[in-house]
Parts: sequence; structure tokens; C-alpha cells
Amino acid sequence: MRTQVAIVGAGPAGLMLAHLLRLGGIDSVVLERRSRDYVERRVRAGVLEHPTVELLREAGVADRLDREGMPHHGISLRFDGADHRIALSDLTGRSITVYGQQEVVKDLIAARVAAGEPLLFEVSDVMLDPATPLVTFTDAGGTRQELECDFIAGCDGSHGVCAPHVKATVHAHDYPFAWLGVLAQAPPSHSELIYTHHERGFALHSMRTPEITRLYLQVAPDERIDDWSDDRIWDELGRRLAADGFTLATGPILEKGITTMRSVVTEPMRQDHLFLAGDAAHIVPPTGAKGMNLAIADVWVLAEALGAYLREGRSDLLDAYDETCLRRVWRAEHFSWWMTSMLHQAPGADDFQRKLQLAQLRYVASSEAAATSLAENYVGLPLRR
Ligand code: FAD
Ligand code: DHB
Repeated sequence: MRTQVAIVGAGPAGLMLAHLLRLGGIDSVVLERRSRDYVERRVRAGVLEHPTVELLREAGVADRLDREGMPHHGISLRFDGADHRIALSDLTGRSITVYGQQEVVKDLIAARVAAGEPLLFEVSDVMLDPATPLVTFTDAGGTRQELECDFIAGCDGSHGVCAPHVKATVHAHDYPFAWLGVLAQAPPSHSELIYTHHERGFALHSMRTPEITRLYLQVAPDERIDDWSDDRIWDELGRRLAADGFTLATGPILEKGITTMRSVVTEPMRQDHLFLAGDAAHIVPPTGAKGMNLAIADVWVLAEALGAYLREGRSDLLDAYDETCLRRVWRAEHFSWWMTSMLHQAPGADDFQRKLQLAQLRYVASSEAAATSLAENYVGLPLRR
């Protein structure tokens, strides 16, 4: 088999790259180790930045997003039992859209299948040689295959096989907490997202549809999901989200899981003909809602760069790939770290640290300049810079 770009991983990064390359007349083959059903059901992110939505629209894959996505013009910071609204649209002229990551994945898979372009699920033992370049794998039928290509895109997430091929410096930071996330059959209790600072730990109220809420609780990194009954989850959410005039709507919990929190940046993001994108190259803690958006931003840069090379023989954009992406990545790392530090209770934190967090929260809630800075980062910095 031969293609121009071999893409490992059918998450948002791999699927969007394949789509953008196709629009630019470039062939690719996408290899995914999971089944289509599995990737379409995997519950993860929910916040699309303004530039992500614009790009999905420009790429012609936003029809359902425009019908079913929920545009949000503000978010709440809740502390001392009261809400402090950050008016995203008034402050920046832009908004975010709440639309589940797996819905983006479904839309991109549907576009790929409709175009009749290769997307292979349930492949195993993917191996690569970034120098040749060559990818080998076992297909769903058990046959070993060779895929010759001009470039390999490593879009296989934080536990993939591509990143270890890059001779890189890995900058990493572990946070002393994790998020317990639940999807519940309950209507949102508030029209906007609520990021809550509470002495018992951070809590987040988000949503997917008018009938489904997405909620998160800060827990210890070694917490076991089996120790969290549905009653215990609702009780803890009720305590942390308590505020005057607020009633938490409850209902059956459809899905629950624990995610640890890390910051990771791989520099450089390439090795010979292999280019990393998305979580394969960097991870942010989820508090800034940046992970999927960074993945989409990377592949926008990569698609333009691969296009310039494969269509016109120009290598300047490929040479600049790292620098272009890493500027945005480090900005998002800082924002995500800052939001995380301001909102979570670190184990062993003393009164001094809590006073500092509250001073920062009060400043963001009362200063237009500080609120604008948060809002500008949250809605997403423009892609074309
Ligand atoms: P992935 O989505 O991880 O996709 C990688 C794909 O590669 C997977 O399908 C995997 O099965 C496949 N793969 C792995 N290894 C192989 C292999 N060897 N061979 C073939 N295929 C392979 N981000 C936001 O922007 N906003 C949010 O609100 C947000 N909230 C989050 C909440 C939670 C609880 C979590 C866990 C994450 C959140 N994120 C958020 C982060 C976001 O989900 C990730 O950043 C995003 O999934 C990255 O996309 P990706 O395509 O790079 O990687
Ligand atoms: C969601 C996830 C996040 O990480 C975040 O910061 C906001 C919302 C969500 O899943 O809806």
C-alpha cells in the first residue's frame, strides 16, 4: 500500500488532519487501533473554542455542530458560595460552543466514510520507521500490511507508539489531583458552565444537551472509581456547588471515570518524516478546556505545511511547524496551569495559599482587564497569527 501521509490515530487530530489534507488534494490513510463504535462513544472534552468552530465550518463539517452545539457567551466562577460571571462575548466579541468531542469525531468519521477515503479501525502492532518512512501494521483481518508514505503523522494520543520515535526533550509536570467526571441524565442546573473553587475541592458544572449534564469533581490521583457510588457523587457535587438560589438537578449517572492531570510538552515535535500532533505531543490539565482545541490547531498548521511541500515543494512551513505550534502550546500550558492552580485545593495547602487563590479569584471577578485576559484565552487565540 502507498499513500502520501500515513496517519496513526483517529481522534480529533488524526481525523481532522485527514479531512484537511483531502480538501487540499492530498491522500492519506488513517490507522486506528480501536473500533469505530469505541471511538464514537468515548466521552471526553466538550468545549470548542471560537477558532476551532470557525475551522470546522470552513472545512464543511459543522452542519450538525451548528444545529446541535450550544453557543455560550459566558462562564461562571463560583467561590464563597456566589457566582461571578465572565462575560466572554462582551469582553472579546467571541464565544465558545459546547459540543461533545465524540460528536466531532462522529462528524469527521462520517465525512471520511462518505468520501470513500481509507480509515482502518481495529489495526494492531503499528510500527514505524520515521526515516524511510514506512509504517507496518496488522489489519482487522489479521494480515500484516506495509504502508509506504512520504510523511507519518503521529496523532495517536498520550499513550501512542509515535512519540517515543522522536528524540525530544519532554517537559512534564504532574498535579497532585485528578478529575472524576460523570455524564448524567439530568438537565443542566444553570445555563452556563460553572467553575467552582471550594474548600472541599474543585467542581465543574458543564453539559452536553438540554437533557444531559457533564460534571466533574477534584479527587485524589489514587482515588478508585469503585469507591464512588452515585449517591456519594451527587452528595459531594451538591456540597461543592452549593450557592444561594441554586438547585442541583440530579438523575441517573450514565458514565463515570477518573482522569489524572498532567502537563507535558515534547520539543521538538518531529523526527525525520514523522510529525507529532495533539496529545501525542503535548498534554494540558483539563481546567482550561484546551486539549482538543490544541489538537485541532496543530493539524491545521500541519495540513498547511504538508500541502505546501507536497503540492509546491516548499519546505519552509514544515521547517517552522514546531515553532508555530509550540508558541500556542506553551501559552495554553500556562493558561491551563493558572486556571488549575487558582481553582483546586492542593493537598496540604495552607491558609496562606487559599488566601492567595481567593485574592486572584476576586481580582479576576472585579477587574475588566483581568477578566478580559481570562476570556481571551478561554475563547481561543486566533489561528491566523
Ligand atoms: P486522542 O483523542 O487521544 O486520539 C488518539 C487516537 O489514537 C485514539 O483514537 C487512540 O485509540 C488511537 N491510538 C492510540 N495508540 C494507537 C496505536 N498504537 N495505533 C493506532 N491507533 C492508536 N480538551 C478540550 O479541548 N476541551 C475540553 O473541554 C476537554 N475536556 C477533557 C475532559 C476529560 C475528562 C479528558 C480526559 C480530556 C479532556 N480534554 C479536553 C482533552 C481532549 O480530550 C484531548 O486533548 C483530545 O482527545 C486530543 O485529541 P488527539 O486526537 O490528539 O488524541
Ligand atoms: C468540559 C471539560 C473541561 O475540561 C472543561 O474545562 C470544561 C468543560 C466538558 O467536558 O464539558
